Amino acid sequence: MTAETFDSGSITLVSGFAHPGLAKDIASELGLELGEIEDKIHPNGEVYSRFKESVRGKHVFIIQSHVATDRTTINDAIMEQALLIDAARSSSAAEITVISPHLAYMRQDRKSRGREPIGSRVLIDLLATSGADRIVAVDIHAPQAQAIFRGPFDHLTAQRALEDAIKSELNGKYSNEECVVIAPDAGAAKLAQSHSRHLDMDILHMAKQRSRGDSQKIQRDENVPEANGKVCLVFDDMIDTAGTLVSAIEALKNSGAKAVYVGASHGIFSGPALERLKGAPIDKLFVTDTFPQGHAKEVLGNKLGIVSVAPIISQAIHQIATAGSISALFDDENHM
Ligand code: R5P
Repeated sequence: MTAETFDSGSITLVSGFAHPGLAKDIASELGLELGEIEDKIHPNGEVYSRFKESVRGKHVFIIQSHVATDRTTINDAIMEQALLIDAARSSSAAEITVISPHLAYMRQDRKSRGREPIGSRVLIDLLATSGADRIVAVDIHAPQAQAIFRGPFDHLTAQRALEDAIKSELNGKYSNEECVVIAPDAGAAKLAQSHSRHLDMDILHMAKQRSRGDSQKIQRDENVPEANGKVCLVFDDMIDTAGTLVSAIEALKNSGAKAVYVGASHGIFSGPALERLKGAPIDKLFVTDTFPQGHAKEVLGNKLGIVSVAPIISQAIHQIATAGSISALFDDENHM
């Protein structure tokens, strides 16, 4: 794709401090340079960010994956994005599109106990009240959160790309009958259904229970007879502490699974995740680069494959800038 195919002069693409590598890859797919930003964290912890160039009359795309860095927290990343939206709005930008490859707080999508907040609503309201006209995000945990935003919300999916990566890893070694698509918990059922349909493989739903007092404690049925002798393809939207995934894989292997391949959109890898994954009997794990994956790659080596979301995000920006269809990019399968 080249910048000549749309009016590159009318758009400004900028990145916050959270994951500039991905933003550069997105810009380079479009044949564009990122606009310059001045940002810092004040000694008291407050975030500061400003555009170094005029954005008057421009369609401004503010790229910030909600991730922590060595210096900054996930909440700093969110705050910087909100500040940049406000700066663009008060500097007469014509239109403001928020690009959050990983949109945080989406697991807090309802009150599951009394007196709990709904974090997804708080986050989306913050972006909206700061002045966002449009939100673009990849594989949000609860796609119904789109309803909170009273503007266009483009939901992109990396699941097809992950499926392709696993398919090419399998390289025709196994018949479809030998393989089974795994939903590691009830929340992953819809994803698994679409992979099972695409890949023409059976589906196996696993039940998971988290302890109320300690969300790290996961209980599962250790005996999954349907996995015996099967090549298991596990798909999920994210791996955070890897408790969900590793408990599922252990149950599958203990039940006689022949091999396990995994595809997850967001490799968050908090706390014990990498140690757990290092020791887990996984043949190959694919995640995307919505999070920087340098450290995970060092720890997991060839066990980990990275699929870039830069191509799908740059194509989405191109469609938005030219009033094209986003659904067409995904054969309408981005609406999970
Ligand atoms: C749960 O519903 C999500 O889809 C993920 O499976 C889960 O949040 C991952 O978290 P963890 O890796 O900490 O178990």
